[in-house]
Amino acid sequence: MTEPAGADHALLSVDHLSVAYGAIRALRDVSLHIQAGQIVALIGSNGAGKTTLLRTISGLLRPADGTIRWNGDDLHTLAPHRIVRKGICHVPEGRQIFANLSVRENLILGAYSLPHDKASVQSAMRNVFDLFPILDERKHQNAGTLSGGEQQMLAIGRALMGQPKLLLLDEPSLGLAPLIVRKIFQIIRDINARGTTIFLVEQNAHMALTIAHRGYVLQSGQVQLHGPADRLLQDPQVKEAYLGG
Ligand SMILES: Nc1ncnc2c1ncn2[C@@H]1O[C@H](COP(=O)(O)OP(=O)(O)OP(=O)(O)O)[C@@H](O)[C@H]1O
Ligand SMILES: [Mg+2]
Repeated sequence: MTEPAGADHALLSVDHLSVAYGAIRALRDVSLHIQAGQIVALIGSNGAGKTTLLRTISGLLRPADGTIRWNGDDLHTLAPHRIVRKGICHVPEGRQIFANLSVRENLILGAYSLPHDKASVQSAMRNVFDLFPILDERKHQNAGTLSGGEQQMLAIGRALMGQPKLLLLDEPSLGLAPLIVRKIFQIIRDINARGTTIFLVEQNAHMALTIAHRGYVLQSGQVQLHGPADRLLQDPQVKEAYLGG
């Protein structure tokens, strides 16, 4: 499949990536490009390899083959903390907040890649509270006592504390009620409008493609389709498999 014009100038370029867990090949020859300023959606069924791809971009898994480049520089050889420092922050599947720490303490942990002066941490936190006023109201509450939607907001807020250029989101809508899902998607749009590029993994294909500029469909570890999000929304194969016919 041909890549879009401008793939050479992508912020993030994944080329011919293969990742295996022992004998299990989770990703095979995956190529994908993310342009600065965009929201790019990755959709696919359970087990397609979406989380594996995000974890490989973040340096938590090493590829068996292929490359990941950031503004043209190799990323796939770097340790996770150096990848965060480049400006890539990951909101993991299942949120993984610290339940016994307060909202504020969770946010401070997200700032570990920033210069450790109080002023930059405070300013990052003000930005997060501006996007999520509820987190400001709940800042002294234990994170484990937040609602599911609030926990997702905290997980996103914690990643934003690292002031990312690229935000990786792994199924932010999982397990949330429709009203909260709409709210989360609106916030993802706002984050993008403020200048952060977004790579959004979702099983809610309709919502994801509605807010995305471009999309990729992953099936059994391979890219099956990609293109402008509005075109994927109209694609008969996508409609049949991911949009409920
Ligand atoms: N630690 C692991 N060891 C062995 N196999 C794994 C491991 N993690 C994932 N896999 C396998 O790799 C494949 C891709 O898994 P992955 O979690 O990336 O899929 P996914 O698209 O994120 O699925 P879901 O939508 O359910 O989150 C699956 O077949 C899974 O069983
Ligand atoms: Mg997953």
